[in-house]
Amino acid sequence: MRLTIAIDGPAAAGKGTLSRALAAAFGLAHLDTGLIYRAAGRRTLDGTGALEAAQSLTAADLEADDLRTPDVARAASVVAAIPEVRAALVDFQRAFARRQGGAVLDGRDIGTVICPEAEMKFFVTASDEVRAERRYAELIESGHDVTLASVLADLRERDARDSARAAAPLKPAEDAEVLDTSEMDIDTAVATAIAMVTARTGIPPVA
Ligand code: C5P
Repeated sequence: MRLTIAIDGPAAAGKGTLSRALAAAFGLAHLDTGLIYRAAGRRTLDGTGALEAAQSLTAADLEADDLRTPDVARAASVVAAIPEVRAALVDFQRAFARRQGGAVLDGRDIGTVICPEAEMKFFVTASDEVRAERRYAELIESGHDVTLASVLADLRERDARDSARAAAPLKPAEDAEVLDTSEMDIDTAVATAIAMVTARTGIPPVA
């Protein structure tokens, strides 16, 4: 049986952790679509035009080790508001979503634009403060020099831009399950999400 799981939500809501856990539980491939926009945004920091960056992305761009920095996140959200950039990246994401064996994709517009026919859709969210604390801890852990206040301000600025843009704005699909992880630890969030997938699709986890 075919299974595509779409996971959308604002920055640092826990989409990545949840996506990887669901992919493992249901035996699916996983694509972090934010990484594609980060790779395109990162190339614009070297002076490359946004559309050229999106059209000429290579596997090596997706493996760059500085894709998780605040500067690259901001550049990603700037290029992601350009309709032609989004259009250049659609086919790859759609092909991945429909691959044999099923897939989990996480991003901002997976349930609304990339894969509206996904069998399961989540909109994962958490309060601004909880998301900022989680992202701050990750950035400090990986050696970045940031403050909690700057991380919170960056998240809010990026969410506002992602929500307000005309092209594929961040918003829940009408048939998405909203999962607020503010008060959940990761194990609870994963167990809740697995149970929701099985309840909606009838498909049990394989692991
Ligand atoms: O998910 P992540 O924070 O890595 O995404 C970085 C940026 O890429 C987002 O702030 C958003 O502007 C953009 N993005 C998007 N559509 C997606 C995934 C990411 O516009 N499907």
